[in-house]
Amino acid sequence: MSMLHEAVAGDQDGFRFNFMSDEGVTPASAQPAQPSGEAVAVEVNAGGRVSRGSIDLDEVSVHPELTLLKRRLTSEDAAELLGESEITGNDLIPGKYEGGFKLWECAVDLASFLSKEWQIGMRLGPGPMKGPSMGQTLSGKRVLELGCGHGLPGIVALINGAEVHFQDFNSQVLEGVTAPNIEANLASLPGEVQQACGSPRYFAGDWEGVGRLVTKQRTGATYDLVLSSETLYNLESQEVLLSCLTQALCPPHGEAYLASKKFYFGVGGGTAAFRKLVRRQGIFECKTVANVDDGKSNKREILRLSFPQSIAGFF
Ligand SMILES: C[S@@+](CC[C@H](N)C(=O)[O-])C[C@H]1O[C@@H](n2cnc3c(N)ncnc32)[C@H](O)[C@@H]1O
Repeated sequence: MSMLHEAVAGDQDGFRFNFMSDEGVTPASAQPAQPSGEAVAVEVNAGGRVSRGSIDLDEVSVHPELTLLKRRLTSEDAAELLGESEITGNDLIPGKYEGGFKLWECAVDLASFLSKEWQIGMRLGPGPMKGPSMGQTLSGKRVLELGCGHGLPGIVALINGAEVHFQDFNSQVLEGVTAPNIEANLASLPGEVQQACGSPRYFAGDWEGVGRLVTKQRTGATYDLVLSSETLYNLESQEVLLSCLTQALCPPHGEAYLASKKFYFGVGGGTAAFRKLVRRQGIFECKTVANVDDGKSNKREILRLSFPQSIAGFF
């Protein structure tokens, strides 16, 4: 039984850090190289590695007018991709695998919330196309999804015209599920909508390293939006995640949307603990913008972090 509650039965993960190629972008399947004592993050070439015909896809309804596609994966498939038989039957292996091969329920909450916010009226995948009637366009906006796994919230931003960067702890997750999902969803769009979508980029590694990497690459502090779901379960990681999104978000207008359970029993994290941490850090205002209680699992929330209005005059 999962502590975190996945959204759709049937996936899993593992671990391997990579080193940079001359171009500064790492093939996702390269050998691991992690300097001891320092968290590493790298940009990886995760796209185009899995052929569409070789994978099974599930439909995920995120909104009455929006159905997304996700790769179906067994835990054995995930173990093979990671080269870690240990993950069969384990949701998380701290320091090695953090759950990215599964689709967790808060990812669907966040994708659904964003679809409503942006009024996307479109159906992807098989079935009747209602639209396309793109809602509020995100063209020119820069979006980072932290701890993306299957990447559904980021895909909603991508099909709405944003330039989206997807980050996961494991490069194999980016290569094995994130990129194939993006490619499958984009391929389902009418040509003119596809052309309006930005090109995704992929980053693998620990949030500590990701914060350092976005700063070094000067992609840091330029994101208009940071998205994340089911990433507040661990108290220690909450601090690193908050620090990473602080490095990434562009003041004064940048915002983060975080979807999470209120409590993760047995693990210690959740929105309650994170809200306290944000208050203690003192940089962001934190507001609950949605509550989800389907009676089936823990109560869930979507938090919005934004810079206080009072700092606008400094920029
Ligand atoms: C439970 S999974 C959630 C995946 C996806 N967002 C969803 O909701 O379906 C947690 C995600 O956070 C990432 N993650 C957890 N701890 C991390 C850390 N310290 N550094 C980088 N990524 C981390 C994992 O790679 C994983 O994708």
